[in-house]
Amino acid sequence: MIEVGIVGASGYTGLELVKMLLNHPSFRLNYLATSSGDVMLEELHPALLDLITFPVEEVDVEQVAQRCKLVFLALPHKASMGLARQLIERGVKIVDLSADYRLDRETYEAAYCPHEDPEHLGEAVYGLIEYYREEIKVARLVAGPGCYPTATLLGILPFIPYIDTSAPLFVDAKSGVSGAGKKLTETSHFVTINDNIFAYNPLKHRHAPEIEEKIAKVHGAEVSVNFVPHLIPATRGELVSVYATLKEEIDPRQILENAYETERFIRLREKPVDIKSTAGTHFCDLYAARNGKALFVSSAIDNLLRGAASQALAAANLMMGLDEGAGLPVIAYVP
Ligand SMILES: NC(=O)c1ccc[n+]([C@@H]2O[C@H](COP(=O)([O-])OP(=O)(O)OC[C@H]3O[C@@H](n4cnc5c(N)ncnc54)[C@H](OP(=O)(O)O)[C@@H]3O)[C@@H](O)[C@H]2O)c1
Repeated sequence: MIEVGIVGASGYTGLELVKMLLNHPSFRLNYLATSSGDVMLEELHPALLDLITFPVEEVDVEQVAQRCKLVFLALPHKASMGLARQLIERGVKIVDLSADYRLDRETYEAAYCPHEDPEHLGEAVYGLIEYYREEIKVARLVAGPGCYPTATLLGILPFIPYIDTSAPLFVDAKSGVSGAGKKLTETSHFVTINDNIFAYNPLKHRHAPEIEEKIAKVHGAEVSVNFVPHLIPATRGELVSVYATLKEEIDPRQILENAYETERFIRLREKPVDIKSTAGTHFCDLYAARNGKALFVSSAIDNLLRGAASQALAAANLMMGLDEGAGLPVIAYVP
């Protein structure tokens, strides 16, 4: 068994990682931490009572290095990079779920804050599995993509060569409230979000530069992404609709089949996708249609899993030479 740890075990994505690792065929949980520690895991997450008894500690770099071959950092941005730097130097492989290693330095500093670990930023591999699989296999440090960029990029990347990049590309995204993490804010307050739906940070959300940068890296194309996220009254799930203008009248279904024929965790649907069919799974469901040269691409993921924790686990599997799908959940929470 390969010993692994989670820093950020009290958070939403930390919990998803614990759940998957409980039944993983080759990974064994050997270290759990939060910012304050000194608590049992089942006290933090009563849903785990009688399934696992595990102490959660305050973060200690030496303990992580002694007890783990690989660690998941399920932390807010900025908290990750200080820790990642010390862990890489001690030979621990890292999958970071935060934004800290996702972007080029210039893009990161424009959207977030000054970068504290430029030395390792350059070697970090972007963890969008279907597009970076071979690089992930040999990486020491993988950066989990943002949840919205995961759904958006999986949908739109196959179409970029056929899109008129001089016309605006609109990404209309909707997310369940768990996308914001466990901390309560006014927008995630029950009274605000219940029976409600609204856009937030339209055209200036931090995930727009991430989507633009990765389109440029994969296709060498400069695309201006007009990104409008919405919050919806659901716990988990993300639905992304992309509206673009085509250069020619291609067959959208054929483009998706060509791109994802051999991908077992991408499902092509005959009808527009929905969030419930992917909730609780690692799947990304895709659908595309066109009206003349107007293209509509629709994708659905579970933000906590394919948008964060299960994509991180898939990357960890590849980094340790295991089957990509080991321990990944595939049965949706339906009905
Ligand atoms: N939620 C999603 O759908 C989603 C999707 C994609 C990516 N992400 C990214 O994944 C990361 C985790 O997200 P989340 O939703 O799980 O967040 P969360 O629910 O807010 O949990 C954050 C965790 O980080 C811990 N923490 C905070 N500062 C720390 C520090 N300095 N040292 C050690 N532990 C610290 C917290 O521990 P305490 O309880 O001790 O404060 C908590 O366990 C974030 O960077 C987020 O942007 C999230």
